[in-house]
Amino acid sequence: MEQIGILTGGGDCPGLNPVIRAVVKRAFIEPWQVLGFRNGWRGIIDDEFIILDEKSVSGILPKGGTILGTSRTNPYKNAGDTEKLKSNFQKHNLKALIVVGGEDTLGVAHRLSQEGLPIVGIPKTIDNDLSATDYTFGFDTAVNIAMECIDRLHTTAESHNRVMVAEIMGRHAGWIALEAGLAGGADVILIPEVPIDIDQVCKIIKSRHAKGKTFSIVAVAEGAKLKQAEEIVETKLDEFGHVRLGGIGQVIGALIEKKTGYETRVTVLGHIQRGGSPTAFDRVLGTRFGVRAVDLVKEKKFGRMVSLRGRQIIDVPLSEAVKELKLVDKDLYQVAQIFFG
Ligand code: F6P
Repeated sequence: MEQIGILTGGGDCPGLNPVIRAVVKRAFIEPWQVLGFRNGWRGIIDDEFIILDEKSVSGILPKGGTILGTSRTNPYKNAGDTEKLKSNFQKHNLKALIVVGGEDTLGVAHRLSQEGLPIVGIPKTIDNDLSATDYTFGFDTAVNIAMECIDRLHTTAESHNRVMVAEIMGRHAGWIALEAGLAGGADVILIPEVPIDIDQVCKIIKSRHAKGKTFSIVAVAEGAKLKQAEEIVETKLDEFGHVRLGGIGQVIGALIEKKTGYETRVTVLGHIQRGGSPTAFDRVLGTRFGVRAVDLVKEKKFGRMVSLRGRQIIDVPLSEAVKELKLVDKDLYQVAQIFFG
C-alpha cells in the first residue's frame, strides 16, 4: 500500500487529534497507509513513527493535545538533521508529508518543499497569528477558556473590591486577549500590537471606580510591552530563536496597585488555555482541514497549505502562510476600546 506521513510540531493545540483522525480516515479511502511521526520534526529525523490505523484514531476526536506528541525541533539547527530527515522520507517512499504547525513548523515545511519534498501544510496555533487563513483551530477553544476564566475572576473581584489582571497567551499578536476580553467584558485589554500606557490604564480604572464600580478586570496578552520597554522575558531562546514570555501581568499589576491604591491581584492563565477538549468549532475546522489536506496530496498540489476563507476551505501557497504574522485587526481593537472603563 502507498504511504503518506503526518507530523504535529510546535506548541500543542486543541483540534490536533481531530486533524489526525480526519487525515487517517480520508487516506483509507484511497487506500493509503499513514505513518505518524512522533514529536514534530524530531520523529522524521530519528525515524520514530507509529502506523496510524483506524483503531489508533478511534475515540480521539474530543481529546486535547496530540496523540503523536510534539516538539519545537528545528531540523535546520543541527548539522546533518535535514539529510537524515530526507533519507527517512525516501526510505519509506512517502507520497507526501502532511505537516501540522504554526509559523516555525510551517517555515521549515516551506523550506523543505522548496528543496523538492512533497509537502502539504495545515495551519495550527492557538494564537491565530498565521497569515493566509482567517482562523487556525485551537484559537476558538483558547478564547472560550480565557473567557470563562475572566467570568470567574469577575465574581471574586466584585466580592473583594479588587483589580484583577489576567495574563493571557499571545506571543506577538493579541487575538486571544482581545476576543476573550471582549466576550468576558474586561475593562481594559492590552495587546502586543499597542504599547501599554500605564498612566492611561490607571486613569481608566480610576474613572470607572469614580462612577461607583468597586472592581476592574484587566486582560493582558503575555507579549504586551510597556511603552519604551522591552517585552518581559522569562527565559532563554528555543530552537527557533523565541524567548519564553511571562511576567507582564505581575509588572502591570504592581504598577496599577501603586498608582491607583486599589488592591490588585494577578492570574496567569498559562497552559490551561491550551489543554483539554476542543470546542465544536475547532473539531469541525480540524476535520475539514485534515480531509482537504489529503485531497491536495491526491491532486499533487504540494507546497500548499489548507486555509479557511469565510466559510470555505481553500488552499494557498506555503510561502504566503509564513510571509508575515497576522496581527490584531485595528478596527476590532477600537470596538473593544468602546467598552473600556
Ligand atoms: O505559540 C503558541 C503559544 O501558546 C504562545 O501563545 C506561547 O507564548 C507559547 O506557545 C508557549 O510555549 P511553551 O508551551 O513552549 O511554553
